[in-house]
Amino acid sequence: MVKITFYGHACFSITDGSTVLLTDPYLTGNPMAAAGPDEVDADYILVTHGHGDHVGDTPAIAKRTGAKIITPVEIGRALFSGFSCLPCNLGGTIRLPFGSVKLIPAIHGSGVPGALACGFVISVGGKKICHLGDTALTKDFELLAQEQIDVLLAPVGDVYTMGPDDAARAAGMIRPKLAVPMHYGTFPALVQDPEPFIHACEDQRIPARVLHPGDHIDID
Ligand code: NI
Ligand code: MN
Repeated sequence: MVKITFYGHACFSITDGSTVLLTDPYLTGNPMAAAGPDEVDADYILVTHGHGDHVGDTPAIAKRTGAKIITPVEIGRALFSGFSCLPCNLGGTIRLPFGSVKLIPAIHGSGVPGALACGFVISVGGKKICHLGDTALTKDFELLAQEQIDVLLAPVGDVYTMGPDDAARAAGMIRPKLAVPMHYGTFPALVQDPEPFIHACEDQRIPARVLHPGDHIDID
């Protein structure tokens, strides 16, 4: 079983009961955060790109927990020097004791000159979770259908990323067993209501579910 907990924005904890992966831990300064940086556990911290709402509390959490950081190599060099970053970049898969993490392209600025933003396909506990990071819609998402994703974490907030309509089109290409919206409602500029995304997924026979900050799902 894999447990996925939403802490707000693009921050999720994903665990098979022993290893804990934490994504984009923007907690301090996030008005919607369900936990503080001292309250979350991590063996690995996955950072999709260098914008502040994704880097967040990564240094403080890595220092406290000793977690290894998984992020494109240029972002690691620029933002996390002195921390343990696993060398990797887009297209690559890192094999780790719990499973693997593959870095996939995201259409988005990385915040670090020369670096690209990414998403992640995480294999853990026999499940595949896809965190798209911040991204625009791209037809390349069709390639992810072959990954047979169990849970898709998709940005729907618009303005900086896909909005609900494009995110539902992305889900339609990826065909996950479950789609979960993220990266909305955090700031006034972002879309506040995830329901249009949920309905647009269901119209395509893709189960979709809203997680409020603090909610979790168990994937059997
Ligand atoms: Ni961003
Ligand atoms: Mn963002």
